Amino acid sequence: MKRAQDKVVVITGGANGIGRVASLKFAAEGATVVIWDINGDKAEATRTEIEALGGKAEAQAVDTTQPEQVEAAAEAVRQKYGRIDVLINNAGITRDATLKKMTLQSWQQVLDVNLTGVFNCTKAVTPHMEAQQAGRIINTASVVGLYGNFGQANYAATKAGLIGLTKTLAKELGKHNITVNAVAPGFIATDMIGTIPEKVIDMMKERTPLRRLGTPEDIASAYLFLASDEASFVSGTVLSVDGAVTI
Ligand code: NAI
Repeated sequence: MKRAQDKVVVITGGANGIGRVASLKFAAEGATVVIWDINGDKAEATRTEIEALGGKAEAQAVDTTQPEQVEAAAEAVRQKYGRIDVLINNAGITRDATLKKMTLQSWQQVLDVNLTGVFNCTKAVTPHMEAQQAGRIINTASVVGLYGNFGQANYAATKAGLIGLTKTLAKELGKHNITVNAVAPGFIATDMIGTIPEKVIDMMKERTPLRRLGTPEDIASAYLFLASDEASFVSGTVLSVDGAVTI
């Protein structure tokens, strides 16, 4: 039996990086994957890739910061498949600068995507999960939400905020058999860290007891565990997947 057999799994930011690999992984495990990504072309490319491998997927161009778009997308999923089993709030952006140089605009952009986007998606799917008395919500935090990071005041604030949101929703939604958890990735080799100089990357590896960056696959595997039947009594937790960089 595949680990996500016949589950309907919505993955935000599923067109690229960690989200793309997670989409492929859940599809390989038997899920119907619904990608919500602001980049409709890339989402479509991932959908095609999944279908070429024999998996089931759908791509919807959705800007998670726009509640009407998210509501309409959730309703479309419910109408087509009759259920939404898992929501992975994976979409996220960075706009790095020290406080001195950070503009209100870049502060707000990061809050809009990383926090309000998660609020919008969660609010749109929970009525469906409540109706089916089952659901899994997985939020993508970050080690920097636990420990802070130079030049990432906006990003770290959102990722710490997600941890508070995760714990609160675990308390509120538990009675409906909905689990809410967060994954806190360490430094993962995706486009997001593409702008970081080689020297800094080497330093990160040096500081990581496992002496490497994480891979999107490492994070997708954590998503899969939290969405699986094995994790049915795991809720309100923050799973660090970081090669022990934070201990
Ligand atoms: P990425 O930049 O490769 O992919 C992010 C995806 O989100 C893209 O497909 C993008 O189009 C989509 N997206 C951005 N804004 C959106 C919006 N408003 N609505 C819908 N989709 C939107 O990023 P990556 O590295 O795969 O990161 C995924 C998640 O993991 C993010 O939440 C990120 O903060 C988190 N993370 C990443 C780490 C890393 O080292 N790469 C470390 C810790 C956390």
